[in-house]
Order: sequence, then structure tokens, then C-alpha cells
Amino acid sequence: MAYPVDTLEDDPEGYQAAALAYYELLREEAQTSTEIISLSTGEQVRLKTSSLCFCTMYRDEPQHKILVLVNPQDTKTVVAVYLKESWWSIEDVLRTSDPTREGLMKVQSFGERIVLFVLNTIVFGRLERRLGSDDMFFLPHPAKEQAKILWRDGAAVGFYSIKMKGSLCGDGTSSCYLLPVFDTVFVRRKNRCQGLGTAMLRDFCDTFQGDEALGISCPISPAMYKVLRQFLLTCPGERGRLWEVEPPGAWGQRVNIWLKVYLQEQRLQDGVDRWGTGEDTE
Ligand SMILES: CC(C)(COP(=O)(O)OP(=O)(O)OC[C@H]1O[C@@H](n2cnc3c(N)ncnc32)[C@H](O)[C@@H]1OP(=O)(O)O)[C@@H](O)C(=O)NCCC(=O)NCCS
Repeated sequence: MAYPVDTLEDDPEGYQAAALAYYELLREEAQTSTEIISLSTGEQVRLKTSSLCFCTMYRDEPQHKILVLVNPQDTKTVVAVYLKESWWSIEDVLRTSDPTREGLMKVQSFGERIVLFVLNTIVFGRLERRLGSDDMFFLPHPAKEQAKILWRDGAAVGFYSIKMKGSLCGDGTSSCYLLPVFDTVFVRRKNRCQGLGTAMLRDFCDTFQGDEALGISCPISPAMYKVLRQFLLTCPGERGRLWEVEPPGAWGQRVNIWLKVYLQEQRLQDGVDRWGTGEDTE
């Protein structure tokens, strides 16, 4: 079976025109439409224009939209994406039948941009987001964002994105990043704690071997702190290079991550030593 990422042409305008035409057709047939699609939950949804939605794919190019079908009972949950004249479940949009798609691969084609969008906005932003533990989400990436998708056993399971040194911060000013920055990172829940987050961090460090300082975008989630701590424990050579940064990453906007981890652990130890309770005093 060929999945959309393997077969979509690099033609975003053509895609958009086809999606709009399809939407208009459905609108005209609204009263008579009997088209039903089956969801992975077993639920069947009748295609009604009220369950269709055009989502903005890129933060900086709002004209590019993708047609999605939402769950009529929970209109914030996307259940399918319209691509190549059919509806594809979220899991199928993330699948590939190309055996050479394995490991970390740069996002280049339009199909890969769609996979990045779906992983980021639909899977992380909604389906797998648990308020409280992962209480963060990322905005859609800019259209030309440097990013890599992590492919494993025929499916996209994670991604990371980079702000290149010298690229615009995108805050409406002319300021540019002063160092390469590891900006967003995500691993699907079922693939976590298998070293994949670490593999992406390592790939980032290896990509910019010649740079004396590398940034990690602030704020850093507690899970990512765990990844960084483990990574810096095993790679002492990277301790002086990794900084938590606010854009554009001037010296006053950097905190050394290893120092932060070290100080935090010292505080914990102080608490234990002072009270002898084995618990943090804060
Ligand atoms: C952060 C994230 C990318 C980590 O991915 P991952 O593939 O699970 O990370 P790894 O398997 O490489 O973990 C490396 C180490 O950190 C530890 N770790 C990772 N997440 C942890 C968590 N939530 N709690 C405790 N330890 C954790 C692992 O146990 C592992 O240590 P080990 O080698 O001793 O077992 C993933 O949890 C995620 O996508 N979170 C949601 C998005 C997010 O927070 N992004 C970061 C924004 S700054």
C-alpha cells in the first residue's frame, strides 16, 4: 500500500485547489450526501461540511491550509486528513511504505511537511497531550523550518526542529539567532524512554560540531531536562556547549544547562544533608 507521504507531488497549490473544489462539492451536496467514513475507533462519521475544517499549516504562511475531518462529538480532535482525493486516518498519514525511510531524515517534500504538521499539531498538540504532565505545545512550524522526522518501522514517531544561526527570530524585529538552536522536539508516547529523544539531541550536536555554543529553546520541559541530564552525564565534552536560550541567544539570554542541572542537584543534596530526611526541602 502506498501512503500519502510516498506519493504526494510537491504541489501545495494543486493540493489546495483540489481540497477547495472537494469542499465546495460537499457543500453543494450537503443535504443529499451519504458518504460515510469509518474511524479507527469503529465509529462511523457522515461527511458533513460542519465536520470539515481547513487548518493553517504554517505559522508564517496562513494562506496554506490542509483539509481535515473532526470528530463531530469533539470538534477539536482531528480524525482524518484529505489527501490525494481520499480521506486518510492520522495513523496512515504517518505511515510509509518506503523501506529507505528509516531513522532521522530531513523534511524536504510537501508530503513530509504534512507529516511534520500532523505529528506536531494534531498528535502532540491534541491526541497525545496530557495537561499537567506535558503542559506545553508548539505552534505550527514556519513553512521553511529546518526539521527532521524520526522514522521507525514504517512510521513517523518523532521530530525535532532547528533555528539556524543567522535566521530571523520571527518576532517581528530584524533580530537573528546568534547560535544554532534545538527548538522543538517530540517523541510519540508509545516510543518514549527508548533513547529516541537522546538520539535526536545527539544528532543536533553532531550536526553543528564546529560551533562552540548550541542553544536549546526555553522553556525546557521537565522530561527534556531528564534527557539533557542523562546526555550530559554520558557526554562530558558537551557540557560547556549546551545553553538554555531565549532568542536571539545573546550572552545575557543563555544559561548553561549542565550548570543548572548541577546546581539543582546540589540544592537537593543540601536539603537532604541539612534535614537528614532524604527529601527535598523546597
Ligand atoms: C522529551 C521527550 C522528547 C523525551 O523523549 P524520549 O525518547 O522519551 O527520551 P529518551 O528515551 O532519550 O530519554 C533519555 C533519558 O531521560 C529519561 N527520561 C525521559 N523522559 C522522562 C520522563 N518523563 N521522566 C523521567 N525520566 C525521563 C529516560 O528515562 C532516559 O534515561 P535512561 O537512559 O536512564 O533511561 C519526550 O518525552 C516528549 O516528546 N515529550 C513531549 C514534548 C516535550 O516535552 N518536548 C521538549 C520540549 S523542551
